[in-house]
Amino acid sequence: MFASRVSAAPVRTLTRLCALLLLLVAALARGSELRVRVRLADGLVTEEVLEADSDRDLISVEFKQGDGTLITFVADFKQDVKIFRALILGELERGQSQYQALCFISRLGRNEIIPSESMARLRQKNPQAIRLAEERRGLEQLEMSAAVNISRASQLSAHIHNMCSEAGEAIYTRESDVRHWLDKGVDGSMFEVLPQACHSTKDLWQACLCTYSLRLEWYPCLLKYCRSRDTTGKSSTYKCGIKSCSKGYHFTYYVPQKQLCLWDEET
Ligand SMILES: *[C@@H]1O[C@H](CO)[C@@H](O)[C@H](O)[C@H]1NC(C)=O
Repeated sequence: MFASRVSAAPVRTLTRLCALLLLLVAALARGSELRVRVRLADGLVTEEVLEADSDRDLISVEFKQGDGTLITFVADFKQDVKIFRALILGELERGQSQYQALCFISRLGRNEIIPSESMARLRQKNPQAIRLAEERRGLEQLEMSAAVNISRASQLSAHIHNMCSEAGEAIYTRESDVRHWLDKGVDGSMFEVLPQACHSTKDLWQACLCTYSLRLEWYPCLLKYCRSRDTTGKSSTYKCGIKSCSKGYHFTYYVPQKQLCLWDEET
């Protein structure tokens, strides 16, 4: 047999070399980072950082708004969960702490964003260009009427802990998502349906509904396919690029005290 004629030492070296090569390939394929300049609704240009990790099957998008708010979006394909986090700068003169964190968790639908593996293969072209999404999608309304207890939420997604630890009790989801997860056998004790509250109150200490909007200005939402013909004339399709989208989200959620959503005052 072939193997028996080869002495052990070169085989070991070869194995090591292969392992090294595999590691290198893995390191190249696993993660990628794109930086995309986009114009926000207020006209300001910001840099979005899009990261893909195909091993952890994860995509994240992060950018800073003109008002200093840091928005982070994570798509967890392993669990089909998406997480939005807003770190909102507080107004110190009103006695607010440095910033307020909000976390919104929902189901990740199929075809909302391209797979992490495809995203990891995207390469940066023309980093200085200000990008405009090819498709501008409307504002999705999400009624976040349930709270998620972070100390039990790792079952839902391993990333909730990192993303939402600063949000404390301000971690929200939809009741329809809760029902879906319960059907899938997720432990229901992490959820709490929140009380009904009024839409507006002048009393800063009263429970109320609050709203928060954000927009992901640019992300790869679809793979584009091209057609090619081989020498025999048979045609086949292959992935040849991405389509970019912009999408807004409007969250309505419960706050135990109106003063926790002062940005709602003007509306
Ligand atoms: C969240 O879960 C932890 C651990 O199970 C529990 O001690 C805590 O009281 C819960 N928090 C709320 C707000 O229900």
